[in-house]
Amino acid sequence: MNTGTSMQELEWWQKAVFYQIYPHSFADGNGDGIGDFYGMIDRLDYLQELGVGALWLSPHYPSPFFDCGYDVADYTGVAPEHGTLDDFKRFLNEAHQRGIRVILDLVLNHTSDQHPWFIESRSSRDNPKRDWYVWRDGKGGGPPNNWYSGFGGPAWEYDPATGQYYYHYFFKQQPDLNWRNPEVKQAMWDAVRFWLDLGVDGFRLDAVNTIFEDPALPDHAAEMSLPELYHQALQAASSEAGQAQLVRQTEVMFQYQREQPGMHELMQELRTVVDEYPDRMLVGETGEIAYYGDGTNELHLAFNFPLMKTTRITPTWVRANQQERLSALPPGAWPCNTLGNHDSPRVYSRYGDGQNDDALARLHLALMLTLRGTPFLYNGEEIGMTDLPLEDISQFRDNLGVWVYHTVVNELGMPPADALAYANYLGRDKCRTPMQWANVPNGGFSPAGVRTWLPVNPNDAQSVNVAEQLDDPDSLLSFYRRMLRVRKQNPALIAGDYTVLHEEAEDYLTFLRGSVADPSTGPSASSGHASGQAGQTCLVVLNMSDQAHTLNFDLDAHTAELVFSSHARGGDSDDLSQLTLAPFEIYIGEIKRKT
Ligand code: GLC
Repeated sequence: MNTGTSMQELEWWQKAVFYQIYPHSFADGNGDGIGDFYGMIDRLDYLQELGVGALWLSPHYPSPFFDCGYDVADYTGVAPEHGTLDDFKRFLNEAHQRGIRVILDLVLNHTSDQHPWFIESRSSRDNPKRDWYVWRDGKGGGPPNNWYSGFGGPAWEYDPATGQYYYHYFFKQQPDLNWRNPEVKQAMWDAVRFWLDLGVDGFRLDAVNTIFEDPALPDHAAEMSLPELYHQALQAASSEAGQAQLVRQTEVMFQYQREQPGMHELMQELRTVVDEYPDRMLVGETGEIAYYGDGTNELHLAFNFPLMKTTRITPTWVRANQQERLSALPPGAWPCNTLGNHDSPRVYSRYGDGQNDDALARLHLALMLTLRGTPFLYNGEEIGMTDLPLEDISQFRDNLGVWVYHTVVNELGMPPADALAYANYLGRDKCRTPMQWANVPNGGFSPAGVRTWLPVNPNDAQSVNVAEQLDDPDSLLSFYRRMLRVRKQNPALIAGDYTVLHEEAEDYLTFLRGSVADPSTGPSASSGHASGQAGQTCLVVLNMSDQAHTLNFDLDAHTAELVFSSHARGGDSDDLSQLTLAPFEIYIGEIKRKT
């Protein structure tokens, strides 16, 4: 049994549970229907009591909001709807006082088309900032090549004022920066230093894989159009083979626009900027392990996105994922797990089965908190917020959904009702609705009578709200709080190595987490542990089925002392040759040598 790392060797970002805040939807402190820093400050006590150690804020910068904040118009400002820079500083200070770190979203690939840099760049061909973006001449009366934007339509936009096209991987309102121009790097690293100087703890790097394009601009060879690809994605939604096929098609289509050479050198350069400051970190919006570099010289964390890419989290799926992922990490690299964010369906909706959703939501949290690596949670998942499909296209704020709707109606002749369902499926508003704080008008997010920026999910009236769940010891929120405490109190769950057991089990997932002694925990780390070293070892069992199971572990000389169970158990100590699990039970026991 490998026993892992000691707690003392770990950095804060390896120990903390991160919580993503979507600023527009978290807490509206000034009653205008949009979340802001006043609201966030008011809710810091809530977050501290929840037990999270770090916050990732989705963009809080001034933005025309065409891509819901991911179209930044000023990298060192604060969106007026969220407050002022002083409000931000107060928020950061108050978070730090509570021992909570804060990382920001950093959108490197593109700016808003309203950013002063782009306004200058497009003003004339000889403007000094012309080369800050990717401008090209057209070909044969059309765009420079056949590339698509990842969000639909062509990747090139003609600008009549100067007679050239500019490149945009995302919406045309998000022109791509030209990262081959050293002045762009300088300007962006200045923005990075601006926030680091203020004491920000790091960044989540948006869309890192699209930063460079192939400068030779070769045509892609995909045989279908992007709307056709989207259409097929809908048809293959519930088939994993179909999805895999589409992933391959997408790779062909975007072959020259993603993961291009230069990325890793750029990440290394950014890492040296961040390393000028003690104790800061970078996490990339990428599932690619290559972004860890050699384990020390690129990103501190890259999300384990492959784990999310399924319709059902099963023990077999998790084991295969862990085996592949953990063995691929370079030495020194630390894993990072998540099941939901502002771009994906809500965990509760996506991985529920419609019958045991509550039990499954608990299992999914337990999985995040017991696997090796830093967990990222998304605001609202702790109360079981669900996707809210919008009823009318006019309610959409995510222009991806709007584009999908009009494209499938106009180009594929889809009936409007089906198109709406499809727009809800691909659009991301459904997981961005306001946080439900109480069973009162507007879910307690904004005062009664205020029109919130996206509608509040009416299930706040069915106990999907913070206030009611805080009062209920059996609620999902109380469960989150308990499990976060358990993780904090058991070093093996944070620092311990992962050793899978019962590798063939289809109904349940079981593994050991073992950590070496931590001098800071003192003499309690005595010799009676299964690890053979003076550290803690925990047995984790997640029964993901509606059947009870009695398990036999080959650990005869040991017993398990109860650390946590989601169910009432007969006693505090269990015989490891006969450990009985109730349906959907989450069990964590500390392995001790029998005396
Ligand atoms: C990232 C963000 C997403 C945004 C896109 C373009 O994927 O997570 O919300 O739309 O980048 O900036």
